[in-house]
Amino acid sequence: MSTIAVVGGGYVGLTTAACFARLGHDVVCGEVDREKVARLSKGEVPVLEEGLPALVAEGLAARRLTFVVGAATAVRNAEFVFLCVQTPPNEQGAADLSVLEGAVREIAPVLRPGSVIINKSTVPVGTAAFVERLLGEAGVAPGSVGVASNPEFLREGSAVRDFLEPDRVVIGCQDTGVAVRVSELYRSLRAPILVTDAASAELIKYASNAFLATKVSFINEVANLCEAVSADVREVALGIGYDPRIGFEFLHPGPGFGGSCLPKDVAALLQTSGEAGYEFRLLAAVAEVNALQHGRIVDKIRAAVPAGLSGTRVALWGLTFKANTDDLRDSPALGVASTLVAEGAEIRAYDPVSGERASDWVPDLEVAADPYEACADADVVVVLTEWDEFRWLDFDRVGELMRARRIVDARNLLDPAAMRKRGFAYEGLGR
Ligand code: UDX
Repeated sequence: MSTIAVVGGGYVGLTTAACFARLGHDVVCGEVDREKVARLSKGEVPVLEEGLPALVAEGLAARRLTFVVGAATAVRNAEFVFLCVQTPPNEQGAADLSVLEGAVREIAPVLRPGSVIINKSTVPVGTAAFVERLLGEAGVAPGSVGVASNPEFLREGSAVRDFLEPDRVVIGCQDTGVAVRVSELYRSLRAPILVTDAASAELIKYASNAFLATKVSFINEVANLCEAVSADVREVALGIGYDPRIGFEFLHPGPGFGGSCLPKDVAALLQTSGEAGYEFRLLAAVAEVNALQHGRIVDKIRAAVPAGLSGTRVALWGLTFKANTDDLRDSPALGVASTLVAEGAEIRAYDPVSGERASDWVPDLEVAADPYEACADADVVVVLTEWDEFRWLDFDRVGELMRARRIVDARNLLDPAAMRKRGFAYEGLGR
């Protein structure tokens, strides 16, 4: 059992704090937002993550998890300090480390000698060395505080599971002794633990997300090709996925990859490569393909309605960047919605969890209370996020509500034959 401080109470910090408490460690989570600390201390979890509220409640009840205001307060007596602060992209696409820098400067004077600072946030290659420089500038004696990289591989919607049942734990540190101490925190997880240098650990995180993004752009292009040669992308994905070197995951075409991670990490890796003097051509193409994909969805919607988009009523199902999350950040669905509004379409959108907040992102977005209400008098309905509930709707009722039975399925969620049997003109991706 160790004493751990977690700086930052977002979905990574909160998941990290609650899971380490579950593993038996004493955890203090420091968050700048006083109001958020008060809510968290009452067990109110502001993010939609399966299992997280129960873990937070368990940690609070066992007094292994506490929430405090500020990083310095959290790190007193801590043996391990996990930095889980936001590293948003700046104008050039590089990760902005100002929040991380501020946190290190705040905690440096109160760090226990022999403690370890661990970068959990996704940070550019070289950040561990940057943190070491910051500690030196703050007067921390060289070697008295360890610095390590321990990137997170949490997916939104399954963050708790991904933390407690990781495919691997990656720890990067020049000092092997420090790396071993950090790896001990994860011992009870019985997952493969890779101990490497800091730069490799930092690049592992970016390379992982860049490869996942590459698979998404690849299958989106294969879907586009399938349309040109009358093949079925789902059959193609199945046929290639049986090869274990390819696998079945991340071969589902859609409106493009979104969220707070993949787009940001692809841009940051391109920036890092450029600064290092290497032209990462493949990744640049992955980003370009992704940027074009939401326009292809709009083209399909435009082609589905004979009178063109201006004045056309479009029902949108799903606004979050993927199903089972409430996150709208960098959601391709919002990009599609904004383009439709700009072309004069009247849109009404339904999302199971984030409808109310969507109008903050897309002005003039009319939000429906349920998927049927969204379809009233619609000329076309568009599936943008693969929420399971859309599969089981009463499509006869949907058809009766609409002005015309047209559906653009941007997630290949529905069965084309079943939809056509109900009189819908069905348009999927690559099918
Ligand atoms: C991702 C990585 O998966 C995770 O390991 C990392 O720690 C954080 O970033 P997340 O951002 O939660 O996780 O989403 P993910 O499930 O990876 O999906 C990313 C985007 O790709 C979503 O917009 C999703 O809709 C899209 N996607 C994913 C596809 O379009 N097709 C697929 O087959 C898979």
